[in-house]
Amino acid sequence: MTDKEKNEMVVTPWEVRGKVDYERLIREFGTQPLTKELLRKIEKRTGKLHLQLQRKLFFSHRDLDTVLDLYEKGIKFVLYTGRGPSGPVHIGHLVPWIFTKHLQEKFDTRLYFQMTDDEKFLVEDELKLKETVNFGYENALDLIALGFKPENTFIIFDAQDIDLLYDIALEVAKRITYSTAKATFGFQDSTNIGWIFWPAIQAVPCFIHAKLTGENVPALIPAAIDQDPYWRVTRDIAQKLGYYKPAQIHCRFLPGLGIGGKMSASEPETSIFVTDPPDVVKRKVWNAFTGGKGTAAEQRKTGAEPGICTIFQYFLYLFEEDDKKLSEREKQCMSGEVLCGDCKAELTERINRFLSEHCKKREKARNIVDKFHIKR
Ligand code: TRP
Repeated sequence: MTDKEKNEMVVTPWEVRGKVDYERLIREFGTQPLTKELLRKIEKRTGKLHLQLQRKLFFSHRDLDTVLDLYEKGIKFVLYTGRGPSGPVHIGHLVPWIFTKHLQEKFDTRLYFQMTDDEKFLVEDELKLKETVNFGYENALDLIALGFKPENTFIIFDAQDIDLLYDIALEVAKRITYSTAKATFGFQDSTNIGWIFWPAIQAVPCFIHAKLTGENVPALIPAAIDQDPYWRVTRDIAQKLGYYKPAQIHCRFLPGLGIGGKMSASEPETSIFVTDPPDVVKRKVWNAFTGGKGTAAEQRKTGAEPGICTIFQYFLYLFEEDDKKLSEREKQCMSGEVLCGDCKAELTERINRFLSEHCKKREKARNIVDKFHIKR
């Protein structure tokens, strides 16, 4: 691959690389920006906006306004999100899940969570089905560790629960042509046929609530924007099947610790996995890309650039809730008062504190995971 190709933006459900231009994604995917008016509408319902909305981590949507209007009229929605279990969860994955939990609490709604062990098996050449099923189970522990309640949280483990999904998947699949699927997902002659059918399965949880409860309500999907192609094809056929079009609220990718791009499981040194022990977290943070200068002396004189610093992004999106303290850090960085080593040490400590709590909760989740299984 040439350098030019490496830097070029590619955002598909299976690959994200290059410098991500979010404005361009809104235009190319045809989504709507999250406007101030819409944020105000949310705030009216939820009180103070969640950090991830305030700091614009969630930046785009489809039909969020419609779903909120229906809600005010007494028609609830259900939440739907998911995970492709191809390995352990990293902290970038937790970001939309944390926001989903906030929405669930504020709107008192059900969450359907799809664990796509089948998708990952079909898409990743080297993974065996047994492995993705097992990652699915392990990843579910991370979801539960965030504090979701079994009363209103339903995890679908695709391979095991396919009988529940299959009739709706067939209805969906029959209405999507190969030419639409090819144009939307970029399928090739060499793509295996399981993968070509698979998008019908990701559509199902948008509609499953009606089958389970008899209540036909829209789904709202909080997810990273790379999943959008699935929703485009699903929205096209929803009304033909008698359902509401699913709505989305899209987030950015939590940047990895390297230069540009998202936190990606395929570059383990730039991602912090929930299972990383403290010394590994320390090493990864220590090697992170920052906006710092060549020497401490130079940095004290000229200051550094928080705008391009991965460490700063972690404080921004996850580890510094206090706006005042965040802007203080930013100023001190730009003036050279605070050096990269200081920020790295603090971030390491915060991440390790968070992970040590998370891992305890994650182990406790093993005893209750069955209560979250959709077939319980
Ligand atoms: N395809 C997603 C992935 O690979 C998993 C997924 C299924 C999902 N349904 C979802 C993600 C709904 C977000 C929202 O990670």
